[in-house]
Amino acid sequence: MTETSDRIEAFRKEQGDRLLILGHHYQRPEVLRHADAIGDSLELSRHAASAGNAERIVFCGVHFMAESADILTAPEQAVYMPRPDAGCPMADMAWRDEVELAWNQLQTAASDEWLPVVYVNSSAEIKALCGDRGGSACTSSNCGRVFQWVLEQKKRVFFLPDEHLGTNTAFQLGLEPDDIAVFDPAAGNGGLSQASIRRARVIVWKGFCHVHTLFSAENIQNVRKELPDAKIIVHPETPHEVLRLADASGSTSQIIKYVQDAADGSRIVIGTEAHLVQRLADEQQGRVTIKALWYSMCPNMHKITESNLHQLLETWPEAARIRVPERIAASARIALDRMLTL
Ligand code: 13P
Ligand code: SF4
Repeated sequence: MTETSDRIEAFRKEQGDRLLILGHHYQRPEVLRHADAIGDSLELSRHAASAGNAERIVFCGVHFMAESADILTAPEQAVYMPRPDAGCPMADMAWRDEVELAWNQLQTAASDEWLPVVYVNSSAEIKALCGDRGGSACTSSNCGRVFQWVLEQKKRVFFLPDEHLGTNTAFQLGLEPDDIAVFDPAAGNGGLSQASIRRARVIVWKGFCHVHTLFSAENIQNVRKELPDAKIIVHPETPHEVLRLADASGSTSQIIKYVQDAADGSRIVIGTEAHLVQRLADEQQGRVTIKALWYSMCPNMHKITESNLHQLLETWPEAARIRVPERIAASARIALDRMLTL
């Protein structure tokens, strides 16, 4: 243990349950060793929503996750990030004005038949828009459940901002290619005619994660040739033409479970962010052989270091506090609460 590490631990001990440190699976191991809870986006939202006595919640993850924590915690609980500049480029791919225009276009084509479903990897403003229109948030681990909730109501899904999670989920639910349309905000009218909107049961926003779109069908074909006995699991932000060639898909926590449930001596190739793959490879050494489908790192998750965490705990700068204005938080909370209930 280093001096920095010891100081963080001493501070945690002194604060007791007044301090809660949450860490996403993609964080560096030096940061995760100080976390009270480690999880995927859904689990960390649940931890934030039940943060009990914590006066300060430190979120080691990306900005949208800390925003959700601020929305779900009580007003007197303060949420901080060791690096508030750690954003998610996918979350920046949908802006309120363009989403509102798109929503109005869908309403014109098929009035009152849509419900918005917003991936938590989005800004609080987009979640607010979704909450105000009767929709729900979702994460990669419960997206299917939320789509079902919409389809059971005989409504159509307007999903944003990840084209791939939306498309993969629609296929998993048995929808056909003709049921799915892609709304491209860079094209006039989203690149969709009125007829194609009316035909679709699911419309997905053309956003993506640059970490997960790095995986290719060729990567999978190479693994099949070189390691024919290996199982391949990928995160559902991976494009469908790659995911359909894998053996399984799941959120970060579901990937961990897949590995933990595997038989001794098995070999698993994983298509997700590099920090998690490396951690699993270290943890499973001598039991299960873990390999990356391709090396792909999230530079934003990587930003937070142990030294950033230490500095935050020593100084608590106002600039590190994540505050969502209540007028936005109130509407965004509707979408997040619905997700947690579903
Ligand atoms: P999980 O919800 O699976 O943890 O994913 C979060 C994320 O940002 C994946 O890129
Ligand atoms: Fe965003 Fe992709 Fe990083 Fe996840 S891995 S935080 S979706 S950029």
